[in-house]
Amino acid sequence: MALRKLVAGNWKMNGTRAALAELAPIASAAAAAPSLDVLICPPFTLVAEAAIKANGIAIGGQDCHTGIKGAHTGCVAAAMLKDVGASYVIVGHSERRCDNNETDAEIRAKAEAAIAAGLTPIVCVGETEAERDEGRAGIVVAGQLEGSVPPAGTAATLVVAYEPVWAIGTGRTPSAGDVAEMHALIRAKLIDLLGEEGQGVRILYGGSVKPDNAVELMAVADVDGALVGGASLTAALFVPIIEATAAL
Ligand code: PGA
Repeated sequence: MALRKLVAGNWKMNGTRAALAELAPIASAAAAAPSLDVLICPPFTLVAEAAIKANGIAIGGQDCHTGIKGAHTGCVAAAMLKDVGASYVIVGHSERRCDNNETDAEIRAKAEAAIAAGLTPIVCVGETEAERDEGRAGIVVAGQLEGSVPPAGTAATLVVAYEPVWAIGTGRTPSAGDVAEMHALIRAKLIDLLGEEGQGVRILYGGSVKPDNAVELMAVADVDGALVGGASLTAALFVPIIEATAAL
């Protein structure tokens, strides 16, 4: 089943207000590609202003807390993101799993908090290079899905991103065959966990998506879009990815 594709940019800890100038050309490209959804996840400091300037593209956060409010210095609740115009939030990115020791259970709780607040969580999974070399990539990703996908997730309220850790920021990507194999495994696992709804949950590929490999990666079966880091920071690189995906 071909799902409506989502091309998402994760700016990570990059960008001050000047970076919001990139949104206008990205919004123009999105308007010219009505067959897909375009999302930018800037740092928290830019979410509110980005939402005002979004002009048709979706805006998301890069993380949220599991709770609604309270004494959690430095944290941001899903409802706060929703309040300033976000519609998505990334949860369980490998940089947070690694840098902040986030567990599958915590990521599931964040995804549930996001859904409760009316945001669509993008739950990230992916194996390390050592895990792939040991032939355990499928087992690792299946385990992450079992632990971090919210059981109440539906096609309309959940997105999953497969991001092999070794492909993030490295310029290396899995072969189209390896991506196909992993996305098929993720699809089967989502159906296992969510029943029929699992058929419609979009599965993004992330990890060194660039203008020159976007067509090959986005054409793979069960790849329902991209989660783009470095190449989402400038319209010059992100727009060609939008255009390549829209042309498929
Ligand atoms: P990259 O990052 O595109 O810079 O590899 C992807 C991601 O971490 O989402």
